[in-house]
Amino acid sequence: MTERVLLLGGGGREHAIADALAPDCELYAAAGNRNPGIDALADGFTELDTTDPGAVVDHAESIDATLVVVGPESPLAAGVVDALEDAGIYAFGPKQADARIETDKPFQRQFMADHDVPGQADFAAFDDPGAAADYVESVEGHVAVKPAGLTGGKGVRVTGDQMSKAEAAEYVRESGHDEWVVEERLEGVEITVQALVANGDVRVTPVAHDHGRAYEGDEGPNTGGMGSVAGPGKLLSFVTEDDYAAAVDTIEAVVEGLEDYRGVLYGQFMLTADGPKVVEFNARFGDPEAMNTLPAMETPLLDVLVAARDDDPLPDLSFSETATVCKYAVPDGYPTDPEGGTRITVDEESVGDARLFYASVDAREDGLYTTTSRSFAVVGTGDTLAEANETADAALTDLPDGLRARRDVGSEALLEERVATMAALRGD
Ligand code: AMP
Ligand code: GLY
Repeated sequence: MTERVLLLGGGGREHAIADALAPDCELYAAAGNRNPGIDALADGFTELDTTDPGAVVDHAESIDATLVVVGPESPLAAGVVDALEDAGIYAFGPKQADARIETDKPFQRQFMADHDVPGQADFAAFDDPGAAADYVESVEGHVAVKPAGLTGGKGVRVTGDQMSKAEAAEYVRESGHDEWVVEERLEGVEITVQALVANGDVRVTPVAHDHGRAYEGDEGPNTGGMGSVAGPGKLLSFVTEDDYAAAVDTIEAVVEGLEDYRGVLYGQFMLTADGPKVVEFNARFGDPEAMNTLPAMETPLLDVLVAARDDDPLPDLSFSETATVCKYAVPDGYPTDPEGGTRITVDEESVGDARLFYASVDAREDGLYTTTSRSFAVVGTGDTLAEANETADAALTDLPDGLRARRDVGSEALLEERVATMAALRGD
């Protein structure tokens, strides 16, 4: 039987998911914005508010979907998986209550404490900004302050190199969020480990390393992610087998605690002097990390989704021994004052050996234009990260004015700096 799969979401991550699924099924896509890459791969593309559970169910029924896969977090937070299940349609993604592991930061931290999940950071939760701000000013040491809900990776502030504690307290008082988590500042290098989860099975994928800060040299505000690297193999040069094993233990402990979690569980870890500690969990693939993971995955993604739906054991995952370097092109000023409206002159032909994944673009009669979000990503692959990086860079040589990328993502200098940071922390 040919599966009829409905994919929700229209970003770079979903373009990578579509790319992985399209050869094996009839693919239908629905998103708030028309992604030209997904549109070209899919048998149908519908513009739809994917956070409206009723609209999603109606659409899934209208195309006789046999499976739904949810890309971004917002439909999960809105209870779309629950609504589909009530309508008898299987969706790969956690239900609203389980998605709180991403969508509700106080829940996430308290859950880790209650279930003895390894990799905890010290934290305090507040439902009043004044009390949170007072705590920031009085607690010893540097902190990370986080609004409780979803902020697209842009709500967190870390004291120390980014801002003083007084400035963080001011930010907490002024930014209009009620509930806050204040955490100890974790120091080290961040890694991502993502797992495909269903029916108690956990299938982990190789380490990826995202670059959250807006500018080269890890300067500037946090973004949704400017680019990411992975491979060859499951580790990176600054990650040990023990780090990976500890991250996997953490993910498995979360799955055990949540009982019937299904979907992707994404763990972001800070490799600290005391081992990996959890920065956050996401209830979905990372964006950009999905663009590293899925192109390297040899096991068909559809096989995983079908096994999940049919209550079969999830297949073991195999990955090619390639390295991948993903770099996002974003509008100037992103993320604080993004200026959209730049004509995009890059296309599948002009990126050479790299892969092109579209994110947020505006299709006008005379071509594609940038919006105020990340525009598109290029992914270079190769036997080594250096080769993959060269391919990704070559694809970005003709970036028009109005768009920029972090060219240092995947560079040898930055990777060496990560190795040095970890060596210093571990006392090597
Ligand atoms: P989040 O939205 O929780 O992923 O946070 C965004 C970014 O803030 C992360 O990628 C980290 O770089 C940084 N961050 C979050 N929590 C902490 C923490 N406890 N210590 C240091 N940095 C953090
Ligand atoms: N790359 C970070 C995220 O997907 O949230």
